[in-house]
Amino acid sequence: MDYTYFLSDTVKRRSPSGVGKFGKLAYMNPKIINFTGGLPNAKTFPFSEMTLTMTDGQILKIDPVMMAECLQYGFPQGYKPLLDQVRALIQRVHNPPRTNDTDVVIIPGSQFGLNKVFEMLVNPNDIVLVPEPCYSGTFSAVLYTNPSGSNPDGIVWSDARRRRVYDLACKYDFLILEDDPYYFLQFEEEFPPSFLQLDRDGRVIRIETFSKVIGAGLRIGYAIGPIPLIEVLTVQVQGVVNHVSNVSQACVSEMLRTVGIGGFLEKVKKTQKFYKAQRDTLMKAAEKYLTGLCEWTIPAGGFYLWLKRHIFGIFHKVLSLPNTSDMILKRGIKRGFLAIPGCAYNVRETPSSYLRLSYAMGNEKYMEEVSLAGKEDRNLGA
Ligand SMILES: Cc1ncc(COP(=O)(O)O)c(C=O)c1O
Repeated sequence: MDYTYFLSDTVKRRSPSGVGKFGKLAYMNPKIINFTGGLPNAKTFPFSEMTLTMTDGQILKIDPVMMAECLQYGFPQGYKPLLDQVRALIQRVHNPPRTNDTDVVIIPGSQFGLNKVFEMLVNPNDIVLVPEPCYSGTFSAVLYTNPSGSNPDGIVWSDARRRRVYDLACKYDFLILEDDPYYFLQFEEEFPPSFLQLDRDGRVIRIETFSKVIGAGLRIGYAIGPIPLIEVLTVQVQGVVNHVSNVSQACVSEMLRTVGIGGFLEKVKKTQKFYKAQRDTLMKAAEKYLTGLCEWTIPAGGFYLWLKRHIFGIFHKVLSLPNTSDMILKRGIKRGFLAIPGCAYNVRETPSSYLRLSYAMGNEKYMEEVSLAGKEDRNLGA
């Protein structure tokens, strides 16, 4: 496939910096005497090693050699051991049909990746294909999907829907951006295939993150896709941050080395069970407090409950509250809770009858306050 057709004018004008090319050569040949770049001398570094204790008591050690390496500038595509581990993880979980034409770049979180993929593929006035409601960190020209436990509506796209959309992408020749931070947090035992798994043509860029399963503050995610597009993304990472923090990458890499891919998948399974239990608790609370006040679909994955707020018209006709902003910003804050009004997930921020609650952190008390704010709304004739 000729990917230049899909590239934006912005990235077509960009090429890897001359200095960057030499840096890469030096990085690929670690025995070479390296006079390139502005590398600080490791003898001046104040830290010599690092110990991390996992919550299950396992100890991770970043030894002096590794510490010196990760305090130094690194490789724009990512810290090599982590790149290999992520490639192995993707192979194990998704087994993409085009493995030899696919690669990975480590990014500082999926939010950064989304921004850079849009910059790579979208010119001003390009066609926009997004679902509504849609994760508000995005909005652009390729088809954007957030198919597993989607933010904000908690839906998991069925196998059939994914295959149908993929076939449409082939028929009409567009790319698919698969933003999948909640992939491991789907609540059914069997997961539908990812778009990456279906990608026989090379038209999927998949973005994953460790934010929801290891720690959001590490700022480690990765983009997987056709090699020519990953090369462009790598130049973009390099242009903004040189490379993702090696210290963060080394922490994740050491964890993956210590527990293995199997151990990581077991840990992720426990995390999935935790959120499933959270969802169940909050769903019981929703039934108790919000029945009649709101309408919802039980989330099939992720962190979010997408509520449609009802009001009652004459003769008890069920209507929807035209906009939930006041309920949250005026009455919610007074009652000590915040949720996100649905308008934030509409492409043009048009009013919305929905609100998004996160059950990742919520508890029963939170649901009771939501119901009280909703009832106040009703008394106010909202
Ligand atoms: C759908 C979606 N995409 C991307 C992100 C950003 O994640 P990260 O922490 O990896 O930048 C989030 C965070 O909540 C999200 O819900």
